[in-house]
Amino acid sequence: MARFTVNAFICSLLTYGFAQAQSSYSGSADGLTTVAASTATGTVATGSGTQTSFRAIFTVPASADQGANLLPTTQDPEAVDPQKVCPGYMASNVVRSEVGFSATLSLAGPACNVYGTDIETLNLTVAYQTAHRLAVNISPANITTSNMTQYILSDELVQQPNWGNDPTFSFTVLRKSNGDVLFDTRGTKLVFENQFIEFVSALPENYNLYGLGERIHGLRLGNNFTATTYAADVGDPIDLGIYGSHPFYLDTRYYEIDSHTGDMTYYSGNNSAANGSYTSMSH
Ligand SMILES: *[C@@H]1O[C@H](CO)[C@@H](O)[C@H](O)[C@H]1NC(C)=O
Ligand SMILES: *[C@@H]1O[C@H](CO)[C@@H](O)[C@H](O)[C@H]1NC(C)=O
Ligand SMILES: *[C@@H]1O[C@H](CO)[C@@H](O)[C@H](O)[C@H]1NC(C)=O
Ligand SMILES: *[C@@H]1O[C@H](CO)[C@@H](O)[C@H](O)[C@H]1NC(C)=O
Ligand SMILES: *[C@@H]1O[C@H](CO)[C@@H](O)[C@H](O)[C@H]1NC(C)=O
Ligand SMILES: *[C@@H]1O[C@H](CO)[C@@H](O)[C@H](O)[C@H]1NC(C)=O
Repeated sequence: MARFTVNAFICSLLTYGFAQAQSSYSGSADGLTTVAASTATGTVATGSGTQTSFRAIFTVPASADQGANLLPTTQDPEAVDPQKVCPGYMASNVVRSEVGFSATLSLAGPACNVYGTDIETLNLTVAYQTAHRLAVNISPANITTSNMTQYILSDELVQQPNWGNDPTFSFTVLRKSNGDVLFDTRGTKLVFENQFIEFVSALPENYNLYGLGERIHGLRLGNNFTATTYAADVGDPIDLGIYGSHPFYLDTRYYEIDSHTGDMTYYSGNNSAANGSYTSMSH
């Protein structure tokens, strides 16, 4: 079981940056070359006269962050500016409702097709869902089964969450492809107070959980790990939002694949078999 407790006053900090180990080896430009065998292992004499052997542990080289030099269109003086050449839309069929309105938006001139193909007709709905939340939805008016999934995910593709009230409210989230239970609050109570929130979700045996704040600790949080995250830290560098509150975790699960049936079985072991076939999924 993982218990997530968030005290809104003292522990809203969660940051996600991982210090990268410094590598003293230089790799090739693709950043993936490992060190030459001759320098990868060796022995050193320690002060007490004993010898300690070592071998290089592969680590991501500093050059790994040298990506392609991409030029965004907003910074490219030769790129076409859509604001200068596109026609915009005109609203018609405006229908007011108690909480907003809907309308049809039609291209107000010849399509510009600058970075794709202009959609001729759009549906617009605007609605106040609460006093503080306005929902604005713009989507193509003419969608058929051939292209619906580009714009709208149907229930067939997105499994609906299951919920129940026995003995109190709980819900589960399943992975559609294999029925794996990804989130499960059954048998636990939701606590929702103005300065305290607690919810509980089940985890599989020997789970692999990552994230939930920056700290000096192995990347994998380990089982039964308890930690407090605080909202206070050193001042932020300007424009670089280092510290913030982003409660986020990644749960990676490994499955052994049956070579005959293709069935996937959750794998809780620490070591993989050399001849085994595995796959992983994260959420
Ligand atoms: C767009 O609105 C029209 C008119 O209300 C409706 O007939 C049509 O089904 C809507 N399109 C979509 C994709 O919802
Ligand atoms: C919607 O798509 C159908 C199928 O291609 C087409 O016959 C129809 O004219 C289109 N309607 C609009 C309003 O674009
Ligand atoms: C979806 O496909 C239909 C033809 O099946 C086409 O008429 C319509 O314009 C397409 N809609 C969008 C938004 O691409
Ligand atoms: C988990 O940690 C708590 C607190 O350190 C400890 O009391 C408990 O025995 C641990 N449970 C397991 C299964 O290791
Ligand atoms: C995996 O490692 C953990 C921690 O080292 C240990 O508690 C657990 O028993 C191991 N599981 C197996 C299946 O070997
Ligand atoms: C993998 O190797 C182990 C040990 O040699 C053997 O018991 C097992 O049957 C092998 N599994 C497969 C799928 O070949």
